[in-house]
Amino acid sequence: MAKEKFYITTPIYYPSDKLHIGHSYCTVATDTMARYKRMRGFDVKFLTGTDEHGQKIERIAKEKGVSPKEYVDGIVRWVKELWKTLDISYDYYIRTTDEKHIKAVQAIFKKLYENGDIYKSSYEGLYCTPCETFYTERQLVDGKCPDCGREVEKLKEESYFFKLSKYQDRIIKHIEENPEFIQPPTRKNEMINNFLKPGLEDLCISRTSFKWGIPVDFDPGHVVYVWVDALSNYISALGYASDDDSDFKKYWPADVHVVGKEIVRFHTIIWPAMLMALDLPLPKKVFGHGWLIIDGGKMSKSKGNVVDPKVLTDKYGVDSVRYFLLREIAFGQDGNFTNEALINRINADLANDLGNLLSRTVGMIDKYFGGVLPKEQTGNDFDAEIVKTALNTVVKVEEYMEKMLFSDAFSEIWVLVRRCNKYIDETTPWIVAKDETRKAELAGIMYTLSEALRIIAVLISPGMPNTPKEIYKQLCVEDDSLKTWDSIKDFGAMPKEVRIEKGSVVFPRIDVKKELEELEAAMEKAQSESIANKSGKDDKKKTEDTEIITIDDFSKIKLRVGKVIKCEKVEKSDKLLKSQIDIGGEVRQIVSGIASYYSPEEMVGKNVVVVVNLKPVKLRGVLSEGMILAASDDSGSLKAVTVDGDIKSGSEVR
Ligand code: MSP
Repeated sequence: MAKEKFYITTPIYYPSDKLHIGHSYCTVATDTMARYKRMRGFDVKFLTGTDEHGQKIERIAKEKGVSPKEYVDGIVRWVKELWKTLDISYDYYIRTTDEKHIKAVQAIFKKLYENGDIYKSSYEGLYCTPCETFYTERQLVDGKCPDCGREVEKLKEESYFFKLSKYQDRIIKHIEENPEFIQPPTRKNEMINNFLKPGLEDLCISRTSFKWGIPVDFDPGHVVYVWVDALSNYISALGYASDDDSDFKKYWPADVHVVGKEIVRFHTIIWPAMLMALDLPLPKKVFGHGWLIIDGGKMSKSKGNVVDPKVLTDKYGVDSVRYFLLREIAFGQDGNFTNEALINRINADLANDLGNLLSRTVGMIDKYFGGVLPKEQTGNDFDAEIVKTALNTVVKVEEYMEKMLFSDAFSEIWVLVRRCNKYIDETTPWIVAKDETRKAELAGIMYTLSEALRIIAVLISPGMPNTPKEIYKQLCVEDDSLKTWDSIKDFGAMPKEVRIEKGSVVFPRIDVKKELEELEAAMEKAQSESIANKSGKDDKKKTEDTEIITIDDFSKIKLRVGKVIKCEKVEKSDKLLKSQIDIGGEVRQIVSGIASYYSPEEMVGKNVVVVVNLKPVKLRGVLSEGMILAASDDSGSLKAVTVDGDIKSGSEVR
């Protein structure tokens, strides 16, 4: 019998910068669902990719002196590396700069035009460039972008419009008749009450003021609005409107689009309207997850509070980071990210509970049986409860996974893990081992633990793809049929003569205090590198010596002489100094990573060179409004750039 298909997607990420742990959150969750469905026998198509067009990318590339394509190519390489590091098992990576996608978008645009769903007019509106979105006056919050809070600009240009308003009633009807369509259900009310009921306006879907987009093929001065371009990825990736649309026929409609809550609107209003206009079925579900929050706000580069996923995976391993993301925050709700919470979860759930269960079991089989259990085994009074808990866990985990409630699923698995640790205390194997006549009983205890561990390994594998391999290795589970989801529906599938191979500790315990200091230093380093805008050391080295800039480029950087009037260490940081710097009629607070080279006293009185038009950022929660220039060499020495002799603070440096 042919397998049932399951088509799942992440949003296609915007490569305006490197991705942070917030983006990884969405991808890890989607990957977990894809892996789960594969284990349940589905023919899964898991799509991710990058959304590479738009004015903002054009601007960034220009600032960097490269073409937009060169710029996005660099970030895409980095994104693919990140997904490899995080073990993301996507089946297809779509780039909106792919020829296949461009052709599909042009075909979609043409079809909508020919069907009379697109008309030409002129647009005067308020546009938020970072969000690539037009807003009406009514939608603004305090006159600013309702999504990112930044200034919007008034734009007037000839544009094509999509008749979004025409689909309003059909969309409301669809949402109301299909309660599964928008998940979690709270997001449904938000869409109906905040966007649909107040009335939809036709949507401006082409731009003429910049070039970096997909040209409308019958009117090439226009490029397609990025959201129409981006949303189309879900079908262009399947070959829609191409010579080979077999995947489209097989996988569309999507079973679930997993998206962050701020883009649910695009996926449940604009996308359905486009599909209705194309006469295509709608996705079965749009799941709007919450945000990873840091210091009370969404992680974002401009706030300087991004967490680099590579720093975390390097330090703790991929599965620990994935486990934390899935377990700590209920999918659908916002949740706080703190280093402390991450380390505490690793210590409590992974090192103490799961890690201990494995090492105790393997250690005892080694010690009491020389590494192989005998066939003669008898049960004990506590076995029945372990069997019941294990089988019940499988049922509950399935229920939660189907609803994408990953945190509940993992919490349920840990009920079993803890129950098994309690079983060791109840059956007291160290006492049983003292009595030669109770060998079969002791072997039975070890078997129950080994079998429960095998079941746990299978249960965690969608979310934690590496740890099960270590569990199977230590319990010598070589037969692949014992690693399948079906094999855990029955307690006792593992042969009685369990063999073990002692291995390393799967999750070493972490010294919280020491680790927090080290982790924060590593993050600071990654953040200041990112702030200094090094887009990858290798890329930088390559371009640095060859990239020529004009005097106009140079004049964009405003440098001034500043006198350090006060300087102190940033609390709980070994690296940062906070200086108050007089830059001529204004005092700026600047945080710099120079504490290993200068004491605060040494800095006071220096006439340093300050970049005064750098976007303010927060470092360790402390606002930094500029940057002090410093020179460093390979020996690890660093010297602040100062001016030769006395000159007025605020003097321009050219
Ligand atoms: N390019 C669009 C999506 C187009 S889909 C047809 C876009 N890209 S994005 O890179 O800005 O965001 C991608 C996803 O990352 C969004 O779903 C967004 O919610 C998610 N996240 C970005 N920061 C996040 C957190 N701090 N926490 C959780 N998810 C976050 O939007």
